[in-house]
Formats: sequence, structure tokens, C-alpha cells
Amino acid sequence: VARSGERNVSKRVISAKKCRPINKSLNSGRMSQVQPVSPYVPAHQITADVRLQRAFEFVTDGLRRIELRIAECLHSDAPALSEISNYLLQLGGKRIRPVICLLSHSLFSNDEPPSELVDAAAGIEMIHMATLLHDDIIDRSPIRRRKPSAYAKYGLDQSLLTGDFLLVRAFGLCAHLDLFVVEATEAACVELTEGEVLEGIIDPHAPPKISEYLRVIEKKTASLFALSACVGAHLAGASPEDVKRLRQFGVDSGVAFQMIDDILDITADEDLLGKQSGTDLRQKTPSLVNLLWIEEDPQSAIKFFTSEAISVEQAKQQAFELRSSPVVPAARQIASDRAQVALDHLSRIQAVEPAAKNHLEAILQFTLERCL
Ligand code: FPP
Ligand code: MG
Repeated sequence: VARSGERNVSKRVISAKKCRPINKSLNSGRMSQVQPVSPYVPAHQITADVRLQRAFEFVTDGLRRIELRIAECLHSDAPALSEISNYLLQLGGKRIRPVICLLSHSLFSNDEPPSELVDAAAGIEMIHMATLLHDDIIDRSPIRRRKPSAYAKYGLDQSLLTGDFLLVRAFGLCAHLDLFVVEATEAACVELTEGEVLEGIIDPHAPPKISEYLRVIEKKTASLFALSACVGAHLAGASPEDVKRLRQFGVDSGVAFQMIDDILDITADEDLLGKQSGTDLRQKTPSLVNLLWIEEDPQSAIKFFTSEAISVEQAKQQAFELRSSPVVPAARQIASDRAQVALDHLSRIQAVEPAAKNHLEAILQFTLERCL
């Protein structure tokens, strides 16, 4: 598969080859359930799972405070808004953005996370929840995290308004924070909407370039990762240069995360993934996999994407065929290279708490190896 200049990083620290089931407690979103890992595990026996679990243990208290803050914000005079928000909240989630925010703070400070950080991270997770509600409406998606999506369960109007509610509540949390946080949050939300609008669908005769794809995912996915990382650093009092480095770490981690999401759309077990596979194929989304397929085998891909309406079954069959094609390893390599760029940013930070750096690396490794 011919590639853009995305692969020029020589080091290959992270292996993106294998896919492991995710730690169950991580997926539940209830960090209080994390079982402590013995500190006496010899260094050479520390697996990626153990590293990830340690990362979550490190931020358990902060995460618990963030979960409580979110729950407090979901009260409304209109019971439907609380119900739908709570429905989405109890579907769980990886809480990656709050974890990045907490760990980025810990890089520069040994203090407990201040209430400002808890509010900012809760706000970021609520913005993420709002995007999921709106995205499922746009995609007409019946499933989210193995359950009926809010759109399928409560309908378009109610889930649209709940997204608006969450977004405004999130801004309520951020509004009393300093101007840096308010402006960065506003910029990230603008990017989210821009990314979603710019994404469009594949025109088989003029498919988007990989560079255009990168621009879209930096906006639609990486913007909240970047916000989480730079807000954590800023609220810890990091220098403007370090805040910028953390922002870039967030951008590159978010890009790698979305690339893996695109791969999972065709490789993941539907039950584990919690949503239909082959959705990007059916919807002609300019995902990394779809664009690489057009490069690799233009004849078949163009024929497929020229079809007026692609059925769920056709998309699943095509996803199955692509799983064993060169497209998957090529996409994994690009994601792995981007994760390496993120690591390079992190390596330039002088951390007051080196464990936090190690934990951020573990989160990045999980991003590449996750199955959902
Ligand atoms: C999921 O991507 C979608 C996003 C990451 C961005 C969605 C953004 C919006 C709907 C704009 C709304 C903006 C605000 C501020 C509320 P995906 O479709 O690739 O992932 P999926 O497979 O999980 O649906
Ligand atoms: Mg979607």
C-alpha cells in the first residue's frame, strides 16, 4: 500500500499488532472497582494490562470525584434530560479524556487534583457525551456500547436536546475557570463541529487524500484529547512551552486513537465493540481503512462505494474480506507511528512525578492494543 509521509518515524516502541480484551473494570467506567495490583510484581513481568491497571489506580480518587461532579450536573427540571444523560453515563465508557487530564496535571504537580481540574475534566467528559448523542443522530446509529443508542431508545428530538443540555452544563462548569480553559474549551468544541461537517462521505471518483482525513480527525477526535492534556498541564502551573507540548501529545494520541477506531470498525468482534461492524463502509465514511482500500485496490473499492445504497450485510461481508488484506497492517503501522510521535512529545517533559509519564505511556499503549 502506497503511503503518505506519515511513516517516517524510525523507532517502534509500541506494538500495535495484537488486540487484547480490555480490562473489565476500565470499561465499566467505575474506577472504584479497580483491584489493587501488588507493588511486588518484578519489573520484567509487568504486562501492558498491569501497566494500564496501575495507571487507573493512580488516578482512582480523582476519577471518582469527576464521576460525582458529572452526576451532580445531570439534575434537571425536565426529567427526560436527566434520564437520557444518566442512561448514557451508565453505558460506561473508557473515561480516557479525564484520565489524560488527571495524569497531565500529575506530570507537573504532586498536589491532589484541585476542584478546578475536577470541574474541567467533568466538563470535557460531558462534552464528549454530547458529541456521542449528536453523532448517533447524524449516523442514525441503533447501538452504542452494546445497548440501544439514546437516539434509538428516546428518539431524535429528546437525544438532540439532551446533547445541548450536556454541552451547556459543561460550559457552566468551565465558565468560572480562567480564560485559558474557557477559550481552549470553546476552540475544541468549534473543532468538533468543524470535523464532523468536513468529514462528509467518500466520492469514489474524487476520494479525499490522507492529509484531508488527518485534518478531519484532528478536529473531530483529537481536539478533546488535546484539550484534556493541555488543561491538566495548565492547571498544574506548567510553563507555556510544556502546555504546548502536552497539547501536541493530546493531538497525536487522539489521532492514533481514531485510527484504531477506524480499524476496529472492520476487525472487532461486534459483541466486544458494542456497535455494528462495517459501519464506515456502509456509510462511505472517509475512514483510514476505506481510504487505504481505495489506494490498494481502487477497482473493487470504487465499485463498492459507487453503489447507491450499501446494505448492512454487504458492509459486513466487505469488512470480513478486508480483515485479511494488507490494508489492516498498513493502517496499524500508521497508527503506531503516530503514537510514537505522541511519545516523543512526552519524552521532552521534565516531570515532577515520573510515574505520571509512565502511566500516560500505558494509556497510549492501550489505545493501540484495545479491542473496543
Ligand atoms: C465519533 O466518531 C464522533 C466524533 C468523535 C465527533 C462528533 C462531533 C459532533 C457530532 C459535533 C457535535 C459537537 C458538539 C460540541 C456537541 P465516529 O463516528 O468515527 O465514531 P463512532 O463509530 O463511535 O460513531
Ligand atoms: Mg459515528
